[in-house]
Amino acid sequence: MDANLPIGLNPDDSAALCKELNALLCDLHVFCQNVRGFHWNVQGQNFFELHAKFEEFYTDLQLKIDEVAERVLTLGGQPLHTMQDYVAGATIPAVKDVHDGVEAVRHCAAAFGVLLVRERALLAATEEAGDEGTHALMSDYVCEQEKTSWMLRAYLA
Ligand SMILES: [Fe+2]
Repeated sequence: MDANLPIGLNPDDSAALCKELNALLCDLHVFCQNVRGFHWNVQGQNFFELHAKFEEFYTDLQLKIDEVAERVLTLGGQPLHTMQDYVAGATIPAVKDVHDGVEAVRHCAAAFGVLLVRERALLAATEEAGDEGTHALMSDYVCEQEKTSWMLRAYLA
């Protein structure tokens, strides 16, 4: 067995995938923290519904953060872990003081769109690298988040 290929993947391909997974990790973190803010700050007629929905979102995002970071480690990389790195590497902007439920849901819909673009790019890259593990993970995320995205658009309609 080649000691340079402990899980059988090309090291250059793995390094490239780790870079993209770290970029996804940045967006997952910033989005998760935004959603925590929505959970705390939302006000109005839909408070109970949205307060609970945002808790569901950030709980799920925290799970994905751990899965993505541990996938980076599995591929031989180093997951980013400082808040500075997350803010610098994210496409999703950090938002604050959002009290309006519709505005918060609109932000979530846009953020899921950003995640989906990153995850689909990763799916394509995993096919070239033959990385079934990352592919399966991204495939699950895409299916799930496409459905969530539809639900958010239905809410906003
Ligand atoms: Fe809470």
